[in-house]
Amino acid sequence: AHKLIIDCDPGLDDAIALLLAFASPELDVLAITVAAGNVGLERTVTNTRQLVDLAGVSVPIHPGCPAPLFRRLETAAHIHGDSGMRGAEHLPPPQAPVSDEHAVQAIIRLLRTHAPGEIILACTGPLTNLAAALIQAPDIAPRIARIVVMGGGVAQGNATPAAEFNFLTDPHAADIVCRSGAPLEIIPLDLTWQAEASPARLAPLTGVQTAIAQTTLSMMAAYGRRGRHVDSDGPPLHDPCVIGHILWPDLMTGKTGGVSVDVLPGPNEGRLTADWWGVAKPPLPQAKVLLDIDADAFFARLCDRLLRYS
Ligand code: BDR
Ligand code: CA
Repeated sequence: AHKLIIDCDPGLDDAIALLLAFASPELDVLAITVAAGNVGLERTVTNTRQLVDLAGVSVPIHPGCPAPLFRRLETAAHIHGDSGMRGAEHLPPPQAPVSDEHAVQAIIRLLRTHAPGEIILACTGPLTNLAAALIQAPDIAPRIARIVVMGGGVAQGNATPAAEFNFLTDPHAADIVCRSGAPLEIIPLDLTWQAEASPARLAPLTGVQTAIAQTTLSMMAAYGRRGRHVDSDGPPLHDPCVIGHILWPDLMTGKTGGVSVDVLPGPNEGRLTADWWGVAKPPLPQAKVLLDIDADAFFARLCDRLLRYS
């Protein structure tokens, strides 16, 4: 099984990413490190605990940094609800324990105590925790197997015309991760906007009486319409694409090139730039940028996994 650390900020789409990961025997989730992003840290930790309870798994949960490295936290409650998981209000108060080890320390410890190349970082929120770990312990970078990140939009942003929410929330952290030297795969909006959870794609879950199927459908129905194309017929499931790519590498295609994230205040703050032609001087750090997905196949496999919960 692939050993994973999932760094996330649940968040409606993060929630589905976690449920997909927990349902997948190919994955061994060593820890969940929690970021501030879609809502404040206290809520993202509560939401993570409720999801762990809902799935009936036992995974260490490590709260991380409550704010980005330099910017003030600006949440996305208008999309995910004040709780960060609108549509999941029926979940009981959390029982899952919270580790007293900070997310940054957990990332460093796990990477140092596993063999180099053993752990994949699956990142679905602002990259503050991973960046802070890389600053504190640069020796971990060459031990990371892969960093798979949802963030950026090469053609277009969703938080501003230039920037995607995760990269804009903490552009300095995204920049640090891009320059870490660890193998990097970026899943930007160019791909995730194709992964719309339309009623047809969610049809396998309708009428299914499990708590997971019903919670998934009610969260999808509650997902805010902002940040969607006018003609969309469902919310984009950005974050599950990270887990999907680790599980099913056949589903996505992309290009390798230099990448950078703009950290300067102004209209391009948080922008992901991809240098397909290698013209940047000096050359930019390389990443694989996934640009297309077989979205129908992805949803078929995602629903199949969610139906494994009893
Ligand atoms: C990203 O921003 C968040 O709102 C989502 O959870 C996702 O990680 C999409 O831009
Ligand atoms: Ca997220």
